[in-house]
Amino acid sequence: EKEPVTVLVTGAAGQIGYALAPMIARGVMLGPDQPVILHLLDIEPASESLKGVKMELVDAAFPLLKGVVATTDVVEACKDVNVAVMLGGFPRKEGMERKDVMSKNVSIYKAQASALEQHAAEDCKVLVVANPANTNALILKEYAPSIPEKNITCLTRLDHNRALGQISERLSVHVGDVKNVIIWGNHSSTQYPDVNHATVTTNSGNKSVRAAVNDDNWLNNEFISIIQQRGAAIIKARKLSSALSAASAACDHVHDWLLGTPKGTWVSMGVYCDGSYGIQPGLIYSFPVTCENGQWKIVQGLEIDKVSREKMENTAQELIEEKELAKSCLN
Ligand code: NAI
Repeated sequence: EKEPVTVLVTGAAGQIGYALAPMIARGVMLGPDQPVILHLLDIEPASESLKGVKMELVDAAFPLLKGVVATTDVVEACKDVNVAVMLGGFPRKEGMERKDVMSKNVSIYKAQASALEQHAAEDCKVLVVANPANTNALILKEYAPSIPEKNITCLTRLDHNRALGQISERLSVHVGDVKNVIIWGNHSSTQYPDVNHATVTTNSGNKSVRAAVNDDNWLNNEFISIIQQRGAAIIKARKLSSALSAASAACDHVHDWLLGTPKGTWVSMGVYCDGSYGIQPGLIYSFPVTCENGQWKIVQGLEIDKVSREKMENTAQELIEEKELAKSCLN
């Protein structure tokens, strides 16, 4: 039997945590033959509820689950973790200024960066989900300088999967037959869901999504805003934000990162930008990536038209502003 992999989930007593922990324990994230140890972190006010989650994980008798640590101690939580999924953060509440929310998250991510840097296992891979996801990941990167920047990512896979889902609904094809959409930029309403390189498998072979949909007006307008506003639509319907789809996307993100993307397929990940596609280096920006041997690589050489270029710059601009705001919170 394989050695267990230790997975940290922060904010584990929350909504996404409740959906994610059993997925990890069932092998959805790391594979059906990979034993896991779960480290669940939350803050003091949620500690009773966190205990309850641990009790249920024990009650579920998952064969792959080799241990559960539920704690409010960041150091204990980060000890020897191989994969860290960061759900914990400070949500924006009605009437709060952006700067106040940023300021809370900056201090949370600064502290957790140091704990991970000091106590996590070597080559620990980090996925930040908590919003503002890209900028929280950037803060984590800044305050954990000994963790390689390629190991720090944020979640835009939910947006990617939403785009696949909408195209498959529109074409009445199975979602598995649609691939290579791209989410560029920030996990926010400025993100650019791009279908210009996406394809769909049909009876008569592979077709471009543009040709198959055959309605540029829908693709260029309604489709984009459906994806950008999907999070808000879920809140409106459920009175709670996306949780099962977010948990599932987090599993997909880590799964493909560690175990590889299928040949000819890319996925979207928020990663540290090296200047690819003319995007300002030093942001955590969502790109199309392929993964192999536990390493992601930005897909290069895709043709970018003028409309796309503008949308890619626009979401980069928002990230530049968030970065400035985060910096100003440090002073
Ligand atoms: P939630 O509010 O149900 O859970 C958050 C949990 O984090 C709470 O249990 C809270 O006590 C805990 N927490 C707060 N500060 C913490 C700290 N310093 N250390 C550890 N835990 C801490 O929220 P939910 O619905 O589970 O969402 C989690 C985060 O994910 C939110 O920030 C949400 O905006 C974000 N999100 C991101 C998505 C993405 O695609 N990137 C999609 C959906 C949600």
